[in-house]
Amino acid sequence: MSKQVLIFDTTLRDGEQSPGATMSHNEKLEIASLLDEMGVDIIEAGFPIASEGDFQAVSEIAKNSKNSVICGLSRANFRDIDRAWEAVQHAARPRIHTFIGTSPLHRDITALSMDDMADKIHETVSHARNLCDNVQWSPMDAIRTEHDYLCRVVEIAIKAGANTINIPDTVGYTTPKESAEIIHMLLERVPGADDIIFATHCHNDLGMATANSLAAVEAGARQIECTINGLGERAGNTALEEVVMALKVRKDIMPFETGIDTTKIMNLSRRVSQVSGFAVQPNKAIVGKNAFAHESGIHQDGMLKNKETFEIMRPEDVGIAGTSLPLGKHSGRAALRAKLEELGYDLGDNQLKDLFVRFKELADRKKEVLDDDLVALMQASGAESQNEHITIKHLRVVCGSDMPQTAEITLDIDGVEKHCSIEGDGPVDATFKAIKQLYESQARLQLYQVSAVTEGTDAQATVMVRLEDDGTISTGQSSDTDTVLASAKAYVNALNRLIVRRKKTAPGSDVREVKYTDAS
Ligand code: KIV
Ligand code: ZN
Repeated sequence: MSKQVLIFDTTLRDGEQSPGATMSHNEKLEIASLLDEMGVDIIEAGFPIASEGDFQAVSEIAKNSKNSVICGLSRANFRDIDRAWEAVQHAARPRIHTFIGTSPLHRDITALSMDDMADKIHETVSHARNLCDNVQWSPMDAIRTEHDYLCRVVEIAIKAGANTINIPDTVGYTTPKESAEIIHMLLERVPGADDIIFATHCHNDLGMATANSLAAVEAGARQIECTINGLGERAGNTALEEVVMALKVRKDIMPFETGIDTTKIMNLSRRVSQVSGFAVQPNKAIVGKNAFAHESGIHQDGMLKNKETFEIMRPEDVGIAGTSLPLGKHSGRAALRAKLEELGYDLGDNQLKDLFVRFKELADRKKEVLDDDLVALMQASGAESQNEHITIKHLRVVCGSDMPQTAEITLDIDGVEKHCSIEGDGPVDATFKAIKQLYESQARLQLYQVSAVTEGTDAQATVMVRLEDDGTISTGQSSDTDTVLASAKAYVNALNRLIVRRKKTAPGSDVREVKYTDAS
């Protein structure tokens, strides 16, 4: 049976300690509420003694909390602990977290002997426990603390009433093997260790925070301390999204459960990045722009045949709409064809071959070939005319101040000419109504946009029309000095693409179900 691992998020405390990552009061409240909704077990909302702003934020997060435990940090003195309690006491489930640096380096700074520090730990943890039933204690720089002394102080904290003992790798110094050995040693040697929860709190200075956290869990830790996007001091903390997804994807060898709704990960990652001002690197695991993007021909071809070839988790599981196959110089013909089909173009093999040459020339000059680039290539190649089911044979529009605006139009629809005349609310409305009268469809107009591409009264107008039919979106574009004619052509252009796309996705068609989305 799977065992539960608690997720302790410290984005609002350790994360906010990243130089320059300060968040506003309202932003902190918003992030806390998103973390609560996502199923984070414990939210470390701040360090209440640090500033009045921190105190107010922790208090309000505590008052608004729903399911998560709300925790406030304090150093090892009564003033800090009282202030932390004052801030978290209104939470449905409050926790006080108190810490002291126990390694020789930190004992030197505080000028405390081993015995004096041991007494201080007993006093402060007991004081916290007298205020709150839920107390977490951390020996800061635990990894560089002498093992015998670490065991001694952990035992004192447990006896004084701490329910959670956190073992911080404050400077990101440990390795997976050592991280596991320390948790194992504490569980073996410390009396009462079985009655409390050990937490792991890793920093990423050597890039091993995720591996060290997972190793600690395998050795018996049952709480992981982490931040969204790995935000935190220096190289950051363990990234929440990495440990949670690692436990989900490799349940076969790590049989642990978390209560996290992973589909909410991407949204939180974006929000934290926006409010902290810390951009997520494109190749960041799980939440980077490229985490579910495949550019090379071999990978794109594999993905089109079976997504499992190059994806170990589904983008939907972390809240991303779908796989992205950006077209670039490494892309192959299969991906180009699939993308063109998605844009509504149906090309024969020879046409695709010609277009592929031009696509590669463009891709050599441009990092990413976008949809608009492909549309321009198609227009320049003349291949688009192959997909024209509807063409405009004749259009005459009557407009002015004292008569109803009327459009008279003749369309060729798959070789059959059809004609009608219809009134509308303005010349463009009359024209669109006339087209709809001759070619019935459920398509709804989502966007109509006119822009002048040249200057003067004889300016060329470029019109863009976007139609939507049962979730399928199609965009048409056309330019002419006559704005109404450009509008009619753009509308018909969008309809033609819609027809091709609907034919392609009709039952029995072989379009594969890979979505192309902008993963940004
Ligand atoms: O890294 C660390 O040691 C900390 C403690 C305050 C838990 O953040
Ligand atoms: Zn830390």
